Amino acid sequence: MISTDTSGAIDFIDKSELQKNTGNAERALKMVQSGTGLGSEWLGWRRIMKEPNDAEIDDISSLAAEIRNDADVFIVCGIGGSYLGAKAVIDSLKPIIDDEGPKIVYAGHHMSGKYLKELLNYLEKPKADGENKSVYLNVISKSGSTLETALSFRVLRSWINETYGKEAARRIIATTGPEGGILNKLVESEGYKKFVIPDDIGGRYSVLTPVGLLPISVAGIDIQTLYYGAVHQFEKLEEDNGELLEYAAIRYMLQYSSTALDIIGTFEPELSGITMWIQQLLGESEGKDGKGIFPATATYSTDLHSIGQMIQQGKRNAMETLLSVEKPIANFIVPEIKDDVDELNYLAGKSFHEINKSAQKGTTEAHIEGGVPLIRIKIESLNAQQIGELIYFYELFTAVYVYMLGVNPFNQPGVENYKKAMYRILGKS
Ligand code: PA5
Repeated sequence: MISTDTSGAIDFIDKSELQKNTGNAERALKMVQSGTGLGSEWLGWRRIMKEPNDAEIDDISSLAAEIRNDADVFIVCGIGGSYLGAKAVIDSLKPIIDDEGPKIVYAGHHMSGKYLKELLNYLEKPKADGENKSVYLNVISKSGSTLETALSFRVLRSWINETYGKEAARRIIATTGPEGGILNKLVESEGYKKFVIPDDIGGRYSVLTPVGLLPISVAGIDIQTLYYGAVHQFEKLEEDNGELLEYAAIRYMLQYSSTALDIIGTFEPELSGITMWIQQLLGESEGKDGKGIFPATATYSTDLHSIGQMIQQGKRNAMETLLSVEKPIANFIVPEIKDDVDELNYLAGKSFHEINKSAQKGTTEAHIEGGVPLIRIKIESLNAQQIGELIYFYELFTAVYVYMLGVNPFNQPGVENYKKAMYRILGKS
């Protein structure tokens, strides 16, 4: 279950305006529900909640099972919305030290030649038993032309072709738009297995399509449960949306105050990827027409020893969104040691979860007292069902809140500007 706690933010807004703004959030929600807002041709992330494609989920699961059986390395080649969702779910649910299934490696998310060179060296290096590694590649690009992804794919595809010869094509899976683009040309000429990213779903809203589902399934996570967790949240929020609307109203009011930064933080390192997915979802959706709160991320308690000072006493222009998991992720207890040289026996018998929660409680109190409005998003337990719920919660929240700003949540016209300048400098005709 996902719930929100706005008690740490309420004293930072004009409470007499909250009801009016919650009403505005409700009107924004109606626009999402009726498809009458800006960019309503991009509401497919809601359509797929009403019409789950079970046959596709089964197809993805059985291909993923085959790959898990055969692969040593599975490369996810994509950028932005084409990899952040998968990475977020995998990081939150896959054991960190895991010997089962293939190693998941990312590529196509930057232009580092050093990284690609090292990746090729790693792929070429035989396993401990002297056998060559079995490598599969999932290239993910809706447009099929994003330079970072296309360049990495060129290098990795050539390596796979040279290494596996006739067998190469079955090791490459393309996830792309229904038609057009260079990836579709390659699918036709090379016979790669293809999954479709529906036209009406934009990159950052696509984690519950094959974009996210194939890599997540290859990582050994139950995508049926993940998907239906999102469907459950969709059904709930169609009726019971008071908390989401109040959260949207408060963030909207803060956006029009001096708040310039939203630090999306967590005390659970497992949720670090989720904070980055939310950062992209909000950032690319709201940052237009001179509006929006800059979404930053923090993983505590690590970052309390770096940007914690800034949050506590720096320029007062930040709010904080804290994602927390209520039930222990693991039951691990601090051991008692006879000599107690480190003087930590006062914590012996306590769980790391309990200690982490105390750090979170103390930090929350200190940040609010220090002038940081703080909203808590509580996840009851860390599992596929609830990560699915969280994904849909944030997709809907983003659409509602960004509609309140009078902005289209589904396009990213500003991204084109850097691309145009870069292609001109690179001499692309
Ligand atoms: O949210 C978005 O639309 C973007 O972040 C895209 O996902 C990103 O630019 C990658 O685009 P593509 O899938 O076309 O390569």
